[in-house]
Order: sequence, then C-alpha cells, then structure tokens
Amino acid sequence: MTQTSIHLQATPRDRTVDLGDGLIMRWSTKADSDNVAELMGEAFRWLSFLDPIPEGVIPGPSATFSSASRRLLSGKNGTMTDRDYALVEDTTRPRDNKNPIVACVAMQRHRAYYGCVDDIFFGKPELIATRPEYRNRGLVRKLLYEMIHPESEARGDALQFIAGIPHFYRQFGYTYAMANYLSGKIADLSSIPALPPGKTEPFILRKATAADIPYLVRHSTNDVSPYTSVGLKYGPEYYQYTVADILELEQPGHNSIRDTLIVVNAATGKDVGFSIVSHMVGLKVEALVLDDSVVLKDALYPILRQFISNEKHRLEAKKATLSVEEAEKFSTAPPYMLLQVHPKHPITMLLGSKIAPSITGPGYRVMTRIYDYPRFIRIITPELERRLSKSPMAGLTGRLRLDFYRKVEGNNAKGLEILFEDGKIVEAREWANPGPEKTVEEYLAWKAEDKVPVIYAAAFAPLTFHSLLTGDRSLEELAWSFGENRVKDEASTLLLNSLFPKVSHQIDGFFW
Ligand SMILES: CC(C)(COP(=O)(O)OP(=O)(O)OC[C@H]1O[C@@H](n2cnc3c(N)ncnc32)[C@H](O)[C@@H]1OP(=O)(O)O)[C@@H](O)C(=O)NCCC(=O)NCCS
Repeated sequence: MTQTSIHLQATPRDRTVDLGDGLIMRWSTKADSDNVAELMGEAFRWLSFLDPIPEGVIPGPSATFSSASRRLLSGKNGTMTDRDYALVEDTTRPRDNKNPIVACVAMQRHRAYYGCVDDIFFGKPELIATRPEYRNRGLVRKLLYEMIHPESEARGDALQFIAGIPHFYRQFGYTYAMANYLSGKIADLSSIPALPPGKTEPFILRKATAADIPYLVRHSTNDVSPYTSVGLKYGPEYYQYTVADILELEQPGHNSIRDTLIVVNAATGKDVGFSIVSHMVGLKVEALVLDDSVVLKDALYPILRQFISNEKHRLEAKKATLSVEEAEKFSTAPPYMLLQVHPKHPITMLLGSKIAPSITGPGYRVMTRIYDYPRFIRIITPELERRLSKSPMAGLTGRLRLDFYRKVEGNNAKGLEILFEDGKIVEAREWANPGPEKTVEEYLAWKAEDKVPVIYAAAFAPLTFHSLLTGDRSLEELAWSFGENRVKDEASTLLLNSLFPKVSHQIDGFFW
C-alpha cells in the first residue's frame, strides 16, 4: 500500500495501558487478525442486514463482519493500516485456550471536504465490539477516550463521525450533526423501461481496474455530489483498495461489498463516466458521475438496466454457494434499487414518480464529535470567508461570541470567540462568558482606549452548535429545538446565517 496522509499515525503504536485484572489496552498488528475476526463474528451474530433471523434460532457467528475486520487489518484498507485497531486483550484467557481479544474499535481516516476546503480528514471509529461477558464494564469507553479520540485529534482529523447504533455514542460526546440523504428508492424495478427489441445498449458498464484509478481520481471532485457542501471524498486510497487491492482479500461468499463501474460510450469506446454500487443493504447506487458530453436522458435507463442485471448475476452467484434448502428460498430478482442521488439532481428529476421519496426524512443521521471548535474554525476558514464575502456582512470587522453554558464530554470549551477584520477571520479561540460585572469592566477598558468592538453574540445548549457548524440544521431550526439557543440581535442572526447556512451532506457509509 502506498502510504499517504490517510495512513498517518500520530500516537505511539507501542503504547500499552494496563487496565488491571489482566486486561491491557494496545494497538493492533496484523497478527491479531484471526482473533479480532473471531470476536467480530461473535459480537455481530445478531445483526443481519438483509436475511431476517428465523424466530427461535441463535444465529451463527457473522461471517460478514469477521471477514470485514480481516480486510480492515489487512494493511491494504483504504482508510486505515493494520496498526489502527485499538484492542483490549485479556492476558489470562490464553491459559484456557481462549481468544484473548475481548473488545475492539477500529480507527479509520476519510478524505473530506467542507465547501471549498477539500483537503481535510474526518476520523471514524468503526467495527466496534465487546465480547458479551465483558460488556458494560466501560471497555469501549476506554478505547474511545484513551486510544481513538487522542489519536484522531493528534493527527489533525477535523471531526469524528460514526453511523452506529442509535443513542449509544451520545454518552461519549457524539451528537447527531451530519446526515446522509438518500433521495429515494425505485421499488418497482419493472418501471425501468426495457431495452427495445433489436437494439443494443448505447452505454455499457465495465468493472474498473487498477488502470482506471487515475481517471476515477480525476473525476472524483466534489462534482460526485454537486448539491452537497460537506462530506466525504473518494480519493486515491479509496480506489486502490476498492478497485484493486480488495481482490486479493476476497473470501468465498464475503468478498467486495461494492463495485466501481466505468460507463463506456458503446459507439466510440470512450470512457464517459463512472458509478459506485454497493450491495450491503441490497442494490444501492452510491455515486453516478457522467461527463458533460453525455445526454443524461439517453444514458440513464441503459445504465440502470445494467445495474439491475449485474445485481441479478451477483445474486445468482450467491445462490450457487447456498445449500439446497437455502437456495430454494433464495430469490435472485433484486427487490429494489436505492439511489444516493440528491433530490435536486437531474437524475432524481428524470425518474420522477418512479423514485419514491425517502420516507425517513433526512436519511440516516450520523453521530458527530467536534472536540475543538477553534481548531475546526481554523480548518474551514477559507469557506467561511468565502460565504461572508458573498453575504450582506461582507467586509465585517467585529467579534462573534458564542456561549455554550457548560463544558461537557465531547467538547473542550464553554464558549467560542471569533475575531473578524475586514471580512477575514483573524482569530478563533476558546472563550467563557465572564458574567455581567466582568463584562462591564471589559467594556470600560475598551472605552478608555476608544476601541469598543462590535460584538455579535448567541448562546447554544452544549454540543448543539455542532449542527449549525456542519450545516445540518438552520439557526431557526436550532432555536425551535432547544430553549437555551438564542441570538443577541438581528445583526448576530444575519452573521450566523451568512456563515452557517443549512446544506446537504454526502456521507458514503462503509468502506470495509
Ligand atoms: C455496543 C457494545 C460495543 C458496547 O460495548 P461495551 O464495552 O459494553 O460498552 P461500554 O461498557 O463502554 O459502555 C457501556 C454503556 O453503554 C450502554 N449501552 C450498551 N449498549 C447500548 C446500546 N445498544 N444503546 C445504548 N446504550 C448502550 C451500557 O448500558 C453502558 O451504560 P452505563 O455505563 O450507563 O451502564 C457491545 O454491546 C457490543 O459489542 N454489541 C454488539 C456489536 C455492536 O452493536 N457494536 C456497535 C456497532 S456500531
């Protein structure tokens, strides 16, 4: 694997933390693969994405999750190295010939963008598990607090996010502040017109190979999702892993969970776009990008038809691996197609009523941790200054003071102060509301020097400012949701709305 900034390791990997009672916490090596895979299979036996678990049956270990953790520890994954799984080991278990790994949290790193700032990273704790008899002892808490969060902060990740089980991560300082839109579902695949008799498809799909990676990276600009302003990017490591390296890691029945397909103009043989299709929750189109030369209405149905026939072939191949009894119940007809395409995208418009709008509102919400607001503001300053320059507050000089009432788990300050000069952000720093007496003292000191600044101000309940910062919710929505959220005056409202409009997010779920 070519080492890039995705694979940066900021904290020492030989560090061991003694938790007492024979338990130690440490980072992984590739030699842990079998043990982590066994733990994952055990912990996730109750999670089945598609095939319902029959009543009254204890399911076997999850092959999907154990093979996924092997791929994370392969040293070839596009988001982490084999040294990035934080583990709890019970050193007493090998005496009884038992797997010593009893809890684990992987630490991924994803390329991301925030408006025009497109060289940033988001950290992602992943494939988290604790052996049943070791649960509720705070092992995941310790792995997050003492290994994962310090590592992610030290290497400069702008935030951490996880899709994860509902509510669980709130206790570790996460809150819902990003959402993955899922514009809809084609529930009736027969609504996609068939290829007219005697015709051949004008656009064909072929599986991408390593030779296509430069093309894919070149075209994976923010145009992958032109209607979103914050999200994840498909970078060279992503393609190296999902297109090429993963082929070496395939295990029968549990191989790559996504395909990258190149769209080819059948008449000219030219590559004119690409698509990413995943299979974890059924047929799901994660991205479809076409060159400007392509007339969308000519290409859309040929492409969708081939997604469906590819999925059918995949299901047929899966059926061939099943027992006779299982195969009898197994349908090879894809039941639906999910499209991760923004509601405003022309694809959504063209499909019209064929695509049922998402009934789950904002799609799946993603838990988000933003520990250090001043650092986050510094990272996204170019985008904030760009927004400001196009707003009624262009050229602003003054201070924005935000009071968060209390310092809580997941964020390091009681407040934030941002200093603006002539429309530029010159400083972002922690701030704490000093109370009325000190505020008067501060004012008199400024007045004595004839330097009273313009102060814009607002207050937000702890962690709720995350949602404004990421554009997950508007200022107005936040004011309605939390009684403590209030803004000083009209000018402060205008400034906050100018800096932090509500935007859509692009979060592709799982790169196992
Ligand atoms: C979820 C899981 C990883 C928790 O591991 P753990 O080591 O027991 O977690 P911790 O002991 O650090 O945290 C325990 C706290 O979380 C709570 N908790 C546990 N499961 C929870 C859940 N599903 N939702 C909300 N809270 C939960 C516990 O009650 C406990 O709270 P308390 O401290 O107030 O008593 C473990 O139950 C597991 O492996 N589950 C199956 C696999 C899974 O779902 N993994 C996570 C996928 S994102």
